[in-house]
Amino acid sequence: MAPGFWRRIFARLPMARSTRAYTFGLQLLPELPPGPVLEIGAGQGFGAAYLSRALAPRPVVAIDVELGCLRAAGLAFGPVPPRFVLATAPRLPFRREAFALAVAVMTFHCLPEPAQVFREVYRTLRSGGVFLVADVNGHHWMARPFEVVEHWFISPLTRAYTPEALAALARQAGFARTAVHHRPEKPGGFMQWFLAHKT
Ligand SMILES: C[S@@+](CC[C@H](N)C(=O)[O-])C[C@H]1O[C@@H](n2cnc3c(N)ncnc32)[C@H](O)[C@@H]1O
Repeated sequence: MAPGFWRRIFARLPMARSTRAYTFGLQLLPELPPGPVLEIGAGQGFGAAYLSRALAPRPVVAIDVELGCLRAAGLAFGPVPPRFVLATAPRLPFRREAFALAVAVMTFHCLPEPAQVFREVYRTLRSGGVFLVADVNGHHWMARPFEVVEHWFISPLTRAYTPEALAALARQAGFARTAVHHRPEKPGGFMQWFLAHKT
């Protein structure tokens, strides 16, 4: 079965609709400069819809390499509906300093050219902007089984990054400061929230 088939099936699982990863991530943000929000990996679009409500009236632009999973009809948008753009993360079709915030929820682990993705996000962020990556914690015991299952069914690219690996990529791209967070009740949990700040 083609990996694209399984990617579409997994993207439709009910668990993929959870907004908890977005909600917790937004709580961690510092005060942002004015400007739009970029979501990398729109999936079904519910994350972009949530961002358009939670961060209203900031415009939200959500990219994905395939928009076949998008279920825009059933989504509740904020006052400014998100714009969905077909694009790949290492080649962002946006001008420099276009965004105040870039968000990648459960997406960074499957992106090609991770160093180039960080460089592109850095280029398109404004001064004071933040890149928020919510994804699998590479130190968690489930990280390796997660990679194996993903390699079988979804994509050979999948990698569960440690916070140290993300920090190294961020530093190489020019980000001045990074931080990693976990839910207070799950300090070594499966999910991590990584923030890279552009000065
Ligand atoms: C597991 S889904 C996560 C979707 C959504 N953020 C969520 O939390 O439900 C990962 C998404 O990343 C997208 N994706 C994979 N490679 C990509 C790339 N190179 N550029 C942009 N999006 C990509 C996939 O198509 C998929 O929709």
